[in-house]
Amino acid sequence: MLRTQPFEAAIFDLDGVIVDTAKYHYQAWRRLAGELGFGFSESANEQLKGVSRMDSLELLLRSGGVTGLTPEQKEELASRKNEWYKELLETLTPGDVLPGVSSFLSHLRSKGIRTAIASASRNAPLILEKVKIRAMFDAVVDGNSIAKAKPDPEVFLQAARLLGAAPENCYVFEDAEAGVEGAIRAGMRVAGIGDGQLLARAHLTVTSFEQLEPVFLLGQIGAAGRREEGSGRDE
Ligand code: BG6
Ligand code: MG
Repeated sequence: MLRTQPFEAAIFDLDGVIVDTAKYHYQAWRRLAGELGFGFSESANEQLKGVSRMDSLELLLRSGGVTGLTPEQKEELASRKNEWYKELLETLTPGDVLPGVSSFLSHLRSKGIRTAIASASRNAPLILEKVKIRAMFDAVVDGNSIAKAKPDPEVFLQAARLLGAAPENCYVFEDAEAGVEGAIRAGMRVAGIGDGQLLARAHLTVTSFEQLEPVFLLGQIGAAGRREEGSGRDE
């Protein structure tokens, strides 16, 4: 059975991993698509997960066949979406932290594992404050401090540097294909939280942290992970 190799730092994506904000991003993008006169499906939205605000807008416009906009028009559309998104964030409370997250974080920290957020979002500080979970992280790297969006590894490497950990000693937790790819490019191990087929490049996948905690407690990733003995990525 595959076992989790020791790691000293845990790096978490925020939207869709710590808090269920991925659905609010989707609602706001779908509203924008509606105003522009086209539909936007949940499966098309998967490609936007983990991707920066402007890159997401480009993908959305492409999916609706919208071309020829000026940079100023694009800025205006992105900020319109962001205002709607922030209205939805107003309703956030600590109860929106996803199931199993708080107890998983407490468990890791009790074992001396350092923790960080690595998010593409410029709204990360606001979200962390609203759900009152900032104190559970030793470092936060977000869209305000990175130049290159996932799948570039920058956000993960910066988090590892702040935690004083080598990439090979970091475990990343991600719900987006772009994030899984970025973590792999950073030379880190990565757990996919969500659809095992979409996140097939991750070292293991689970549907929620409630499933993940026992895996890490027991140190056995074959037990609840997607992969059976011998079929995982090289550890
Ligand atoms: C990522 C989300 O965390 O942040 C993306 O998965 C989002 O959907 C990106 O586009 C940027 O977020 P924000 O809040 O700065 O628009
Ligand atoms: Mg995410």
